[in-house]
Amino acid sequence: MIEISSGHARIDQFLSGDYDRVRGMSSRFSAAICGHLLRRQTERGIAGDIAEIGTFEGRFFIAMALGLAPGERALGIDTFDWPDDGVLARFLENCAGAGLAHERFTAWKADSRSMSASDLREKLAGRAVRFFHVDGDHVHDSLAHDLELAHAVLHPDGLICIDDMLHPSYPTLITAVLDYLARHSDMRVVCIIDREDIVAAAKFLICRREAIALYEQDLMRSFQPFHFVLGADTPNHFTVVLTPQPRIADVG
Ligand SMILES: C[S@@+](CC[C@H](N)C(=O)[O-])C[C@H]1O[C@@H](n2cnc3c(N)ncnc32)[C@H](O)[C@@H]1O
Repeated sequence: MIEISSGHARIDQFLSGDYDRVRGMSSRFSAAICGHLLRRQTERGIAGDIAEIGTFEGRFFIAMALGLAPGERALGIDTFDWPDDGVLARFLENCAGAGLAHERFTAWKADSRSMSASDLREKLAGRAVRFFHVDGDHVHDSLAHDLELAHAVLHPDGLICIDDMLHPSYPTLITAVLDYLARHSDMRVVCIIDREDIVAAAKFLICRREAIALYEQDLMRSFQPFHFVLGADTPNHFTVVLTPQPRIADVG
């Protein structure tokens, strides 16, 4: 097992305990890095809610929600009907089992495709989101819509985290992200978290250009053993890449 932690006691306790027992698709590697980012946001005075489209049974949601600071809340959005109608009950059971108090989160059973930014703002009672995980319908137009929803409620220093980037099953999904970056020229891919395996795929972390300094150096320093130094060219930026086992091809 890869030794990586978020540095947030409650998140790390969940990661080394029930994380793998809660059914889900996000890697433990990515959850530790995102938990670290939530802790850093709190330390830097960045306050806001967390939200996720595609909550499923709560694996990633719980890990992030355990990083909430006092007064903050988590919003989990899902149709909660796949693979069966028991998924919402299992999600609530998993939250309770992880010690996530019910007043700290809302499960919103809804289809994000028919949701407007004002619907979302209303559900959030006007609070900004400092960390938004987008992991819902893996189709170009749905992701394009979900990214606009996330953008509409994002804290100025907040992060949008997109799952299943460059996944072999969804080779065209990346075009929705590139289109989003073209529409919002102030947004940058600040970090790519590489996959653990075919199920636990890569995530992109996106923030405003002005917020890059809050995260970039810290990520390279804090996760130095996982820093792939060749990085990545992304639109208008040279992006940090973190990978479970960094190595460079032997060409000598
Ligand atoms: C890959 S799973 C999410 C895994 C979870 N985020 C994790 O890390 O374990 C995708 C989820 O997105 C939900 N979903 C798909 N299309 C959706 C939509 N249009 N609106 C809301 N949820 C949707 C599915 O019901 C499913 O639970």
